Amino acid sequence: MVKAAWHNCYGLRSVIYSVNRGRGRVIVSILGGTGEQGPGMALRWARAGVEVIIGSRQQARAEAIAAELNQELGQSRIKGMANPDAAAAAEVVALTVPFSAHRSTLESVRAQLQGKVLIDVCVPLDPENPRKMLMPPAGSAAEEAQEILGDERESRGGVPERLGARTP
Ligand SMILES: NC(=O)c1ccc[n+]([C@@H]2O[C@H](COP(=O)([O-])OP(=O)(O)OC[C@H]3O[C@@H](n4cnc5c(N)ncnc54)[C@H](OP(=O)(O)O)[C@@H]3O)[C@@H](O)[C@H]2O)c1
Repeated sequence: MVKAAWHNCYGLRSVIYSVNRGRGRVIVSILGGTGEQGPGMALRWARAGVEVIIGSRQQARAEAIAAELNQELGQSRIKGMANPDAAAAAEVVALTVPFSAHRSTLESVRAQLQGKVLIDVCVPLDPENPRKMLMPPAGSAAEEAQEILGDERESRGGVPERLGARTP
């Protein structure tokens, strides 16, 4: 079964429900959450009551962004950690790194993603021409993630993955 599924990555409610069936809180980590996409997602999810962890290659950078976001929120709902710790601490993990770092980042947290849901926001843009998509041999970023992580992790692509992804 191909588990890479189209999903609106900004609509987390159904992902959380599929993880905990309404039984309690779910922690969501955003790997590479220090860039353009991550903080916006973190703020929206935190405002909706989700506990969020910002991940980064540098723990100090993740903590600094988390502190800024908490200030904007007016409460302490977002933490910052190094990517592997952030991946280990969460049940649902979003990936928001440039596609050039897609494979290496996933390989670096492969063990921590065991049995978790990955929301893959990355878009396979052509490095030579960022207005063009350059789909990986697997078919899409989400399908590449599934290939790297193995079948036991569920990988869901973000909106632009719609054309390349298949439903289970
Ligand atoms: N699905 C959608 O709707 C949608 C919309 C827009 C963009 N995107 C995609 O979302 C992804 C993130 O976009 P963005 O604009 O947030 O990216 P970005 O700001 O360029 O980078 C996000 C973070 O990735 C980390 N990073 C950068 N280079 C890295 C490397 N070589 N190895 C490991 N980590 C690296 C950095 O975090 P640290 O330095 O803190 O580790 C950076 O802050 C991209 O793939 C983009 O194409 C998707």
